[in-house]
Amino acid sequence: MTTPDIIIAIDGYSSTGKSSFAKLVAADMGYLYLDSGALYRGVTLFAIENGLIDEDCNIEMEGLMKGLVGLDLHFENHGNGTELYTGERCIEKEIRTLAVSGKVSPISAVAEVRNFVDSILHAAGRNRRVVMDGRDIGTTVFPDAELKIFMTADPMVRAQRRANELKAKGEEADIMEVLKNLQERDYIDSHREVSPLTQAPDAIVLDNSNMTFDDQMVWIKDLIEKKFGNA
Ligand code: DC
Repeated sequence: MTTPDIIIAIDGYSSTGKSSFAKLVAADMGYLYLDSGALYRGVTLFAIENGLIDEDCNIEMEGLMKGLVGLDLHFENHGNGTELYTGERCIEKEIRTLAVSGKVSPISAVAEVRNFVDSILHAAGRNRRVVMDGRDIGTTVFPDAELKIFMTADPMVRAQRRANELKAKGEEADIMEVLKNLQERDYIDSHREVSPLTQAPDAIVLDNSNMTFDDQMVWIKDLIEKKFGNA
């Protein structure tokens, strides 16, 4: 079976299951998977650990700009799927905490941070055959992506999914607090000046409130077959 040389851009709201879906699609197609949100989370962790963002999310811009120059964020796969590293340190666990989730939206609203992340994504997508998930992949990072999916789901379903994820990692999560964090992030992500979360005009909506991963895979394989003929 041959697969087309395309970029699949999966954008949408927080905790709609973009990453899990994108990983499955990438594995099925034999493509590389890139989690753009992980890179924004990596920059946020860097800012927190270096005292560059305070409790009220005020950002020390000069320090952050200097830090970005030498910041190494990259993905490695040692059998546990793609994980984010800074230098030799795996930061996959740290970037998924509520502490990072609470500060990632203001950090990702900074234009220079977006340029930093975009350059990593552009390099990875040079030869197509990638699945990327995020907020602006189909609108800004790869507006020429051949297939664009915009994911959404009921906010309470999303909050429950995120709370389950956190629980599975041993982090106690109050569902209302998770819901509040999601809604705040949706708002900031959709209203920021630089590259806001919007549906690309040529994106296809996937509302997975009542869909299993199997349902979603059937849906996208059908779509790819119709559009590209040989998935
Ligand atoms: O997908 P995620 O929840 O891990 O993303 C974390 C944050 O990163 C999200 O709140 C907004 C930001 N983000 C972004 O601004 N643009 C992207 N392409 C991906 C994520």
